[in-house]
Amino acid sequence: MTILITGGAGFIGSNFVLDWLSASDERVINLDKLTYAGNVHNLAELANDPRHIFVQGDIGDAGLVAGLLKEHRPRAVLNFAAESHVDRSILGPGDFIQTNIVGTFHLLEQVRAFWSALEPQAQADFRFLHVSTDEVYGSLSSDDAAFTETHRYEPNSPYSASKAASDHLVRAYHHTYGLPVLTTNCSNNYGPLHFPEKLIPLMIVNAQAGKPLPVYGDGQQVRDWLYVKDHCSAIRKVLQGGRLGETYNIGGWNEKPNLDIVHTVCDLLDELKPRADGQSYRSQIAYVTDRPGHDRRYAIDARKIEQELGWKPTETFETGIRKTVQWYLDHPQWVAQVQSGAYREWVATQYAQV
Ligand code: NAD
Ligand code: TYD
Repeated sequence: MTILITGGAGFIGSNFVLDWLSASDERVINLDKLTYAGNVHNLAELANDPRHIFVQGDIGDAGLVAGLLKEHRPRAVLNFAAESHVDRSILGPGDFIQTNIVGTFHLLEQVRAFWSALEPQAQADFRFLHVSTDEVYGSLSSDDAAFTETHRYEPNSPYSASKAASDHLVRAYHHTYGLPVLTTNCSNNYGPLHFPEKLIPLMIVNAQAGKPLPVYGDGQQVRDWLYVKDHCSAIRKVLQGGRLGETYNIGGWNEKPNLDIVHTVCDLLDELKPRADGQSYRSQIAYVTDRPGHDRRYAIDARKIEQELGWKPTETFETGIRKTVQWYLDHPQWVAQVQSGAYREWVATQYAQV
């Protein structure tokens, strides 16, 4: 048996591949374009493992995708590939439209052609699982109920709009063509192998480098944080038992304002790797201009996946964030390797004012 995953060299995808192969011998074909966010070193321990076949390429490359499906005949396709950073989508939405919308469309077309030609039993068993985000639902105010699966789509950034469009395409391929799809909408992830352009790894990396810790606006925007391994276990549950055509929200009931997150990271670093001058890393916090159109609050109501599929996260925020900070302290070479010229250019553009 084989599964094909896209975007498996990124943050969540590489955690998923590593977890999958630590628990199962089912082969993984990993199609990833290796954009700035993709990193084959994430999968270094699988370099000589015949269960993992890495292919560098674009989900929008119809010929390549058709060839991979024909050759490997996967029983499922899991689509993690995306442009994923909101700030980059604000500076340049083009790549988001291209990969998240057009790329997903081409992928769906090739999967539909492959699936249509399968034997009836293989057709019934096949799954296309699309990995999406809670950001498609837009922003909540402080007293709104958390997002359920029936919450109206109200995306506010080019990133979330492009993910919303891809979710709609996936839905349409089920309703129109009968493609056996599943969609997951997850809250903010954190954990090992997270590219240091996103809040938590950026704070850990900047703190140690003696750089400012840029907090957008008043730092009171709320995100609902989930340890990445818990997201991976939820995806496995949905793949295994999710009802066709359904969407499942994934979250850990872990809402926190950004400033609290930054304080927690600083306090853990104060404990695990104190600054030489005895001061707290909190002294590096710098308030900077807010992100345009910044969503105020995300919160996931995860009761559907809990009740239907029996999924629950294993980490609390306290255990997960400690593991995460420790992972970055233990992997300075990984951090140095991802801080390429392209990374430095991004940081210089995005944080020019700090
Ligand atoms: P990431 O940016 O770390 O990784 C994305 C991966 O996709 C990279 O390896 C990149 O090389 C690859 N990729 C990009 N364009 C591609 C293309 N055209 N063809 C093939 N591969 C391509 O992202 P992530 O944080 O790992 O997110 C993975 C998925 O999960 C995304 O779909 C994202 O929308 C979704 N998601 C992320 C979060 C989060 O907090 N990070 C939360 C919910 C959902
Ligand atoms: P991010 O990790 O980019 O995820 P998302 O925008 O998808 O939620 O940002 C998380 C929150 O942290 C978001 O409210 C923006 C904020 N933020 C900062 O305050 N400073 C930063 O340097 C970054 C990258 C994010």
